[in-house]
Amino acid sequence: MLTDEIWMQRALDLAQLGGGFVVPNPWVGCVVVRDGIMLGEGYHAHYGGPHAEVRAFEGIQDASGSTAYVSLEPCSHTGKTPPCANLLIKHQVQRVVICNLDPNPLVAGQGVAKLQAAGIDVQIGVLSEKGELINRRFFYYHRNQRSYITVKYASSADQFIAHSNGHAQVFSNAISHQLVHRLRAEHQAILVGVNTANADNPSLTTRSWPGNSPLRFVLDPQARMDDNLVLLQDEFPTYIFTYSVTKSVGNKQWIALGSVDYLKTFMTYCQENSIQSILIEGGARTIETFMQEIEVQEIIHIESNEALDSGIAAPHIDESYAKKYSVGSNNSWRIQLGKENLA
Ligand SMILES: NC(=O)c1ccc[n+]([C@@H]2O[C@H](COP(=O)([O-])OP(=O)(O)OC[C@H]3O[C@@H](n4cnc5c(N)ncnc54)[C@H](OP(=O)(O)O)[C@@H]3O)[C@@H](O)[C@H]2O)c1
Repeated sequence: MLTDEIWMQRALDLAQLGGGFVVPNPWVGCVVVRDGIMLGEGYHAHYGGPHAEVRAFEGIQDASGSTAYVSLEPCSHTGKTPPCANLLIKHQVQRVVICNLDPNPLVAGQGVAKLQAAGIDVQIGVLSEKGELINRRFFYYHRNQRSYITVKYASSADQFIAHSNGHAQVFSNAISHQLVHRLRAEHQAILVGVNTANADNPSLTTRSWPGNSPLRFVLDPQARMDDNLVLLQDEFPTYIFTYSVTKSVGNKQWIALGSVDYLKTFMTYCQENSIQSILIEGGARTIETFMQEIEVQEIIHIESNEALDSGIAAPHIDESYAKKYSVGSNNSWRIQLGKENLA
């Protein structure tokens, strides 16, 4: 590995510590180096909090002549925090090495232009593929102006997702359960169909991994969710998408989308409300309609090594591109990224 790559790898490692606390912001890390010595480092740790560059320069008395390694183009606009490009200029950094440009129209090349106008040497694209991967949801949303969709489901070895009577079966083990909660924290919203809501009475919150809970969405065209479900009784907001019912009870909202092009209208709602990413957690009917009608960017399939013999069939998904990992002694974790989602 070259020197620039080593420091950028450190910035990317730091970026990921933001984990489930920064959504819908990107994961960003920054390392400040002079003469091979690290002067400071930092990462964006929570939404609305200081950017990685601010954290990295905290406590540095003199950064003149240094190189700043930043995993994403420094911002040039005043948002919740002042522009980071200005901070780098103020600290008389000599060189800025960037992993990925920021496709957010508020930044998009303007951060680089500002640095270059101040005479700073800027290099772009170091470990860019790794950066694309960790911020894939953020990049996809800003490049396509639509939500990044991840489908996640768990099945038996013989491809059933629940018992025939709709009763849930636990297929995950302790490790895959934690990884699912990590996925929840990393998405802005989570979605299930009404049958899953009624059958499983899920909370859909993030509990077994540090991070924020996603917004909770239910597809319930006929408004037939049971009133006593956790999703309607707990303190967290829930959004229920119907054909024709519009009402709100406390922080639970029913939103009418009409019966024509229901799912496409749902996606338009997400676009209009800046929903960056959605984790679809089932059931089979909901997953299949997303697979058929909407472009899905990522599929996670947890498979137990035990058979169920009969039950509700898992969605039919071509897994020929999937990467497979063993998780504990009795689960496999398959991840399949859409071909277009990194472009
Ligand atoms: N193993 C796992 O990973 C996993 C995950 C989740 C759930 N499950 C299991 O799966 C079972 C439920 O699966 P399911 O396939 O029966 O139901 P589901 O997908 O949870 O819900 C399907 C219902 O949601 C509504 N819906 C979903 N997509 C829609 C669309 N595009 N357009 C219109 N309406 C839409 C429809 O409601 P209407 O019928 O009212 O029109 C549809 O009948 C449960 O037994 C649960 O335990 C397993």
